Amino acid sequence: MKPFLAVLVLAFGVVLPANAQNQGVTTTLLDQLIRVATICMSTYAGGFCLAPNGIRKVADITNTATDVHGWILRDDNEKEIIVVFRGTLSLENYNSDTNYTLANFDTYPDCTGCQVHGGYYLLWSSIYENVQSLIQDQVSSYPDYGLVIAGHSLGGSLAALAAAQFSSTFDNITVYTMGEPRTGNPAFAAFINNVYKTSSPSTTRFYRCTHTDDGVPHVPPQSDGYLHHGLEYYTVDPTDTGTTYICGDDTTECNGKYNTSGINVAHLTYFGRTVIIGAKCV
Ligand SMILES: *[C@@H]1O[C@H](CO)[C@@H](O)[C@H](O)[C@H]1NC(C)=O
Ligand SMILES: *[C@@H]1O[C@H](CO)[C@@H](O)[C@H](O)[C@H]1NC(C)=O
Ligand SMILES: *[C@@H]1O[C@H](CO)[C@@H](O)[C@H](O)[C@H]1NC(C)=O
Repeated sequence: MKPFLAVLVLAFGVVLPANAQNQGVTTTLLDQLIRVATICMSTYAGGFCLAPNGIRKVADITNTATDVHGWILRDDNEKEIIVVFRGTLSLENYNSDTNYTLANFDTYPDCTGCQVHGGYYLLWSSIYENVQSLIQDQVSSYPDYGLVIAGHSLGGSLAALAAAQFSSTFDNITVYTMGEPRTGNPAFAAFINNVYKTSSPSTTRFYRCTHTDDGVPHVPPQSDGYLHHGLEYYTVDPTDTGTTYICGDDTTECNGKYNTSGINVAHLTYFGRTVIIGAKCV
């Protein structure tokens, strides 16, 4: 290899072709995915009362009219401000899930031509200003901390909307979603791919995780004008570095090879962590 090319490859890593499937992730990344899955699944315990690993709850994100729930957390050991959104838990949430009408992403016009899931857009527009000011408070007090945005299911789509919305507002953002439905149109997917550098596992800041035949990432269908952004981190059981695969944008390999649709058993567990519903706060 010519030295110039070698430098390019070192700098940018290996670009992943659309339908490729790279097997394996590092222990460091897997540990982080397990940690974030624990946080995501804890959002279903009322009021985020089971915050794992001594993570501090800083503020609640709530809108009772749209029944949306999220939390601002802080991990002083890892130096992270964490924003996490809860997934579907009510009939009202379910009605949001199934509103596939594409809405213009008017809260963030810099995302040119972007249209997003109409049900989730109504939730997002009811909270985004509040979320931004809550994050700003933390970032002002802890300027050297990273910002993590995460969520499972409906919460994953809210995390993707937050990731786009705040892409030019805050630095050092990393995004993790688990069982994220398709969130927007091809322009939205391209925007995320560009801003979060998803063309390669060595540059990506967006980890869209899927689990075996989870049916939720299959909706809304591409035929309704939706497309997934990358990179897909597809995980099969048992959870391990070697059972986690990295896949291109909206491929028919990996999770896309199954013929499932909507919530199923695989949707409820990610990286060995299961949705915690009805846990009592102690
Ligand atoms: C579905 O979403 C669209 C776009 O956000 C919105 O205009 C419409 O009111 C929603 N429909 C229902 C039944 O909530
Ligand atoms: C970015 O965030 C990570 C934690 O997520 C932190 O360790 C790192 O120091 C931050 N980098 C900068 C430049 O602030
Ligand atoms: C997927 O499942 C649906 C409903 O069970 C069925 O109608 C369809 O033919 C299946 N498609 C494939 C490709 O197996």
